[in-house]
Amino acid sequence: MPLVLGIDTSCDDTGVGIVRADVVLANVVDSQTALHAEFGGVVPEQASREHLAVIDATVQTALERAGAELGDLEGVAATHGPGLVGALLVGLSYGKALAWGLGVPFVPVHHLAGHIAAASSEPPFLALIASGGHTALFDVDDGGGISELGRSRDDAAGEAFDKVARLLGLGYPGGAALSKLAEQGDDHGVQLPWPMQGSNGLEFSFSGLKTAVALLLQRQPEVSEADVAATFERIAIGSLVEVTERALRATGRSKLVVAGGVAANRRLREAFAGSDVEVLFPPPALATDNGAMIALAGAQVLAGARQGAKVLAGAQQGSGFKAEARTANTDPSLTVDASPYLPLARPAS
Ligand code: KG4
Ligand code: ZN
Repeated sequence: MPLVLGIDTSCDDTGVGIVRADVVLANVVDSQTALHAEFGGVVPEQASREHLAVIDATVQTALERAGAELGDLEGVAATHGPGLVGALLVGLSYGKALAWGLGVPFVPVHHLAGHIAAASSEPPFLALIASGGHTALFDVDDGGGISELGRSRDDAAGEAFDKVARLLGLGYPGGAALSKLAEQGDDHGVQLPWPMQGSNGLEFSFSGLKTAVALLLQRQPEVSEADVAATFERIAIGSLVEVTERALRATGRSKLVVAGGVAANRRLREAFAGSDVEVLFPPPALATDNGAMIALAGAQVLAGARQGAKVLAGAQQGSGFKAEARTANTDPSLTVDASPYLPLARPAS
């Protein structure tokens, strides 16, 4: 089983992990949260510069924790998208150069395929990824092929939590603080709209809900902030659960993986308790952005290449998420298709 190092620099955390098959040997995350907090959100150029400053040391720390040396690595994986372009380029270029230098295969990994791999769960299953950057539902079939069922047409769930938390003066990122405040409020204390009402689809939407909170606070500045937090949380999480349950019914899947920062939410964790669905939450360190999940996805690809099995992880370049099964390019040259995965990337020829 190959020893694989994985890198994620898609947003504001420099994540480096080392795995052997599905065993995580090291998972080091250098978080930039404090750096961006004063701006109330991630500043892309700052993020890229910080990745560049710390990536080498983060790789060294991961190697030490795994008790490994560079020469022991048998594969390198890095997120090639989606994410902030400058930030992605740091980890992607570092990963490609490392693989080339060591003469081992390089595996470009789709960030969301990484989140799904973090669950280390046997397919088939449904996956709900809800973070500050993404909210989407995926079906993972018997053979491990991933297809997207639906995503948010506007804000990600965590982004909506952060924006509402900001309106309530709770700082950034404010999802956890908002959830804490909600515990003291009445979750029917104010009137807010239910997203995508009347829809039978598998899409999410959170910006209308967020705007409704902003308008409410403008019109009624004396309103109970705890009631606003509680009502917002009931509706935002309720909407995530509603669409996910619809997808479970539509696909007949009985297993659900929930990942991303919002998976820490108490209401979301309790929502499926008592249902027939087996719900899996990756351990917190693997549920939020990290390098180990990218290494896990990379190891799956490399194992597939060696065993000839159909595996997932990685995605075809282009717009939208087309995570078709692909095998690793075991040629350690730089010709591997590892361009950043961006809407503006040249179309695959
Ligand atoms: O996956 P993640 O760590 O990384 C990024 O997306 O960058 O997700 C972070 C998101 C933030 O928006 C944060 O506010 C949200 O997860 N979050 C929560 C909770 N804890 C973190 N949202 C709701 N309830 C929580 N308890
Ligand atoms: Zn993520």
